[in-house]
Amino acid sequence: MQKKEFNVTPWEVEGKVDYARLIKKFGIKPLKELPDIFMTEVLFRRKIIFAHRDIQRILEAIKDKKSFVMMTGLMPSGKFHFGHALVVKQMIFYQKLGAKIYIAIADLEAYNARHKSLEELKKIAINEYLINYVALGLDLKKCEIYFQSARSDDSKKSNAYYRLASNFSRYATFNEFKAIYGEISPGKMNASLLQAADMFHAQLPEFEGKIPVLVPVGVDQDPHLRIARDIAKRYKDNKFIQLSSTYNLFFPGLKGSGKMSSSDETSFISLTDSPKEVERKIKKYAFSGGQATVEEHRKKGGNPDIDVSFQYLKFLFEPDDKKLQRIYDDYKSGKMLTSELKNYLIKKINDFLKEHQKKRKLAKKQIDNFMLKV
Ligand code: TRP
Repeated sequence: MQKKEFNVTPWEVEGKVDYARLIKKFGIKPLKELPDIFMTEVLFRRKIIFAHRDIQRILEAIKDKKSFVMMTGLMPSGKFHFGHALVVKQMIFYQKLGAKIYIAIADLEAYNARHKSLEELKKIAINEYLINYVALGLDLKKCEIYFQSARSDDSKKSNAYYRLASNFSRYATFNEFKAIYGEISPGKMNASLLQAADMFHAQLPEFEGKIPVLVPVGVDQDPHLRIARDIAKRYKDNKFIQLSSTYNLFFPGLKGSGKMSSSDETSFISLTDSPKEVERKIKKYAFSGGQATVEEHRKKGGNPDIDVSFQYLKFLFEPDDKKLQRIYDDYKSGKMLTSELKNYLIKKINDFLKEHQKKRKLAKKQIDNFMLKV
């Protein structure tokens, strides 16, 4: 089989993803020229964030020093892993640019999709997600964080949010949901409408008023954006500025296919893994683009483009472009062996985690104070 099949939906990523085909299929645009400031972030510089819808509105806001919102949501589903770190890096980047960060803790969505109690989901959201956000450098004081199950103590705000989610249901048909999501259930439909409200409610007069909103996502999440955009276009009670969104490549799972996912133990490295665990996982699972024997590798060289260890360096762990290029060349020529590449990565991850785990302890205190106020 020449052209391997792949499948990308908000709930499943399988096979070898052909991103050029996804761009066409979803109708998103390749991300081209960006202002210099974006080049300070590896994810933009290395085109890991590769596509967009309507980004120009955000670029104009940045240029004109106008305010904008960056909105995202988290489904508290399990361990926080390095795949989750991509969006956190973007939150920190946009927060530094002056954006107001809105974070929806999607506990209502998870209640349905993961069959856990709201109490349990709250614990996961705090102990896995928020603590790591803070340890990675996000300033929670400058964020608007809320649980979907309890939008605000201010009833005017809260009413406006839930009213929006409910009113949105008038502007979508069952067939649209089916066309966009494939299999659809009342729970998924409800989650989709609530998520549309997450993305648009910042623009209501009870919140920020008219303001551009950017939603950075993994490319599998685009169906949610498509339906939200379509609904908002038809919604007459409030004239919304259309959403802007950016799309990142999947952070590969250890075994090389699909994305890193907390529902597959052998696909992820979590930010609380011990150095031994990191070493074991990389050595045992990380898919290698190297050759079967050292002799063959020296002769033919490896393939960094499909090598998971190299991809991890590229996405997160080797900020130095020149070094990364040298590793690429050396691995490709056969000068660098798979074992050397893996050891280099293990050291990079463990150095990072050592610092990170210290920061988590400090973050815990901040979170405790913060949660008293939510
Ligand atoms: N559905 C998202 C997930 O599965 C979570 C989410 C809820 C979200 N509301 C959002 C993401 C708004 C982006 C914007 O992770």
